Amino acid sequence: MKVLAVSGSLRVGSHNTSLLRAVAALAPPEVEVELWQGLRDVPPYDQDLDGVEPVPAAVASFRDAVANADALLFATPEYNHSVPGALKNALDWASRPHGSHPFTGKPVAVIGSSAGLFGAVWAQAELRKVLIAMGARVVDVELPIGQAQEKLDADGNLVDDELREKLAEVLELLLASATPELAIAS
Ligand code: FNR
Repeated sequence: MKVLAVSGSLRVGSHNTSLLRAVAALAPPEVEVELWQGLRDVPPYDQDLDGVEPVPAAVASFRDAVANADALLFATPEYNHSVPGALKNALDWASRPHGSHPFTGKPVAVIGSSAGLFGAVWAQAELRKVLIAMGARVVDVELPIGQAQEKLDADGNLVDDELREKLAEVLELLLASATPELAIAS
């Protein structure tokens, strides 16, 4: 089973990206958690280019990565109480063509972290709203991770055992959501 992990942060030292790496390290051997690293390359969405071939390479690559994943795990920072623009932009591209895009019915879960106390709780709610609007199957779980800098060391390694357990629980819920689909497909 493959889980595509998508961080909403472009920052090299991103806490959200580090948390996704921590989830990858927790995954059972039969589950591959692959970090998607193409966000920076996705151009601004332009409806005039919608359906025009060739599709921008970064967009095609994102759509393929989503299509080839059994489930997706997002980790988002919060920018001005919402989803970072770069992430929303990539999702707008991936939500097309309307009705036949790769997020349709795809199991997804959302976590998020901020440096402050609230743990990107509003950004997570907004991201879930967007994913629901796109037709993804959004797992009913949230994990606001406040003061992320205290839960990771200087190299981005997770140093908080309670958080490690919570991340494992989110992954378990996501995998459980993806499993019935696989059973039907096989
Ligand atoms: C922020 N940050 C922030 N934090 C928060 O809790 N609520 C908010 O509304 C905002 N708004 C905001 C806007 C902008 C433009 C920036 C750059 C930052 C702080 C932000 O959540 C924090 O820097 C995160 O730790 C960034 O995540 P990464 O990059 O570490 O994954």
